[in-house]
Amino acid sequence: MSKIHSVIRERYSPVIFSSKQIDEETLLTLFEAARWAPSSFNEQPWRFIIGIKDKNENYQKLLDSLMEANQNWAKYAPVLALSLAKKNSSVKNRPNRFAQYDTGMAVGNLLAQATSLGLYVHQMGGYRVEMVKELFNISDEFEPMAAMAIGYKGDIDLFPEELKERELKKSLRRPLDEIML
Ligand SMILES: Cc1cc2nc3c(=O)[nH]c(=O)nc-3n(C[C@H](O)[C@H](O)[C@H](O)COP(=O)(O)O)c2cc1C
Repeated sequence: MSKIHSVIRERYSPVIFSSKQIDEETLLTLFEAARWAPSSFNEQPWRFIIGIKDKNENYQKLLDSLMEANQNWAKYAPVLALSLAKKNSSVKNRPNRFAQYDTGMAVGNLLAQATSLGLYVHQMGGYRVEMVKELFNISDEFEPMAAMAIGYKGDIDLFPEELKERELKKSLRRPLDEIML
């Protein structure tokens, strides 16, 4: 663990977010990092819906779409986002079986960039897929992937006990010999 790069080591998914806004230029660098991810045939199938608290209406729509268990903590984050994968390849208009894989890699870049800037990202699969499709007029061309809460870490002492406990819970991983086959 200590030998891996700090952008990997220090990343985790918090439930304690500060209300501090992310300045626009900093936020843009996260999506710029995503933009430079590798993808099959350089298709770049990722798209992002971005909601900024008190700045655009996407924020409330994304928050409303989250499962209540996620809303409980995600509501503190200043930015919410949703990744989408374009299902078909643009060149041949046939299913791109790497669309979701590539979108995940773009988010991986975003996570590394965020960590390098002292930002944290907590991804969520727990949201109402049909609701986001409707609220954002997402066509069948795209598959909604993970929602994300993005922000700076908050002061743990200011948060409810239940979130404090979750925040301090240790995150475990499978041992190396289980994943290296
Ligand atoms: C695709 C995806 C969906 C996830 N969905 C949720 C979710 O709905 N709610 C939640 O609290 N965490 C969610 N997580 C966060 C994971 O639980 C977390 O990444 C995992 O437990 C490892 O912890 P760490 O990110 O702090 O290292 C999700 C993560 C991913 C990548």
